[in-house]
Amino acid sequence: MKLIKAAVFSALVMASGLIASAMAQEIPGDAEAGKALYPVCTACHGVNGGGNQALGAPKISGQLAFYTLKQLQLFQSGARGTVAGDMKGMQMAAMSKGPQLKSPEGLANLVAYVSSLPDQASAKTIQGDAAKGKTAYAVCAACHGAQGEGNEAMAAPRLTGQSDWYLVAQLKKFKQGQRGYDNTDHGGRQMRAMTATLTTDESMHDVVVYINSLN
Ligand code: HEC
Ligand code: HEC
Repeated sequence: MKLIKAAVFSALVMASGLIASAMAQEIPGDAEAGKALYPVCTACHGVNGGGNQALGAPKISGQLAFYTLKQLQLFQSGARGTVAGDMKGMQMAAMSKGPQLKSPEGLANLVAYVSSLPDQASAKTIQGDAAKGKTAYAVCAACHGAQGEGNEAMAAPRLTGQSDWYLVAQLKKFKQGQRGYDNTDHGGRQMRAMTATLTTDESMHDVVVYINSLN
């Protein structure tokens, strides 16, 4: 059983490396031009992109640009934010479809601006067992990095610095099939498979509390 798991896992990791290296790209956006597209985002994500827990809107500052771009594209194409019951995802999907975001240039400019926002610490709101979470995180490090710093070559976002409540909410969405459901969403599908290692809400809390403890 262990062997099979390990084989499936290394196949996953190899596949994601291939996909990601095909995807790896510079984001040639103009942050100055992107600034003019950002005011509509502030209502939920805040002027500095710090997020708003009451609205379920994540922090978007401090994230890797390739990932921010990809999420906006997933929302635009319907590969994220279309599953029944995913009200938050649907709200964001609607926001990704503004007329000025239809052109690749507009989108790249917006992403360049979001990436230029100053990173900020997020409040710790989740309780759990960091030691158990550390054990659970060992498998995550292959893609997200030992410090949760993210890895573009694996299409994996930065996790450290993201609000803990949002990380937990997204783990649940992957597990329930509200993310990583679309055939075109290779990274999301891989991540969805990875939530098999987190069998309870408690185990999700533990791993997120461990992520909170990283730099
Ligand atoms: C009406 C509120 C609202 C507005 C306005 C809004 N968003 Fe969002 N956004 C959300 C919510 C809620 C989520 C979380 C969706 C989920 O839970 O899956 C989200 C998620 C995201 C994500 C995914 C982050 C991640 O790590 O998964 C990005 C990127 C993003 N928004 C960027 C933007 C940008 C850029 C704008 C402006 C064009 C914008 N949003 C406008 C509510 C909003
Ligand atoms: C095989 C590589 C891989 C492994 C291993 C992996 N992930 Fe991921 N993870 C990804 C990718 C790729 C994404 C981005 C999916 C997308 O683009 O929607 C992601 C996204 C996430 C997100 C959403 C972040 C956000 O801002 O929305 C969380 C939370 C997460 N992973 C946590 C974990 C945890 C915890 C583990 C270990 C139990 C783990 N991941 C293991 C590849 C991986």
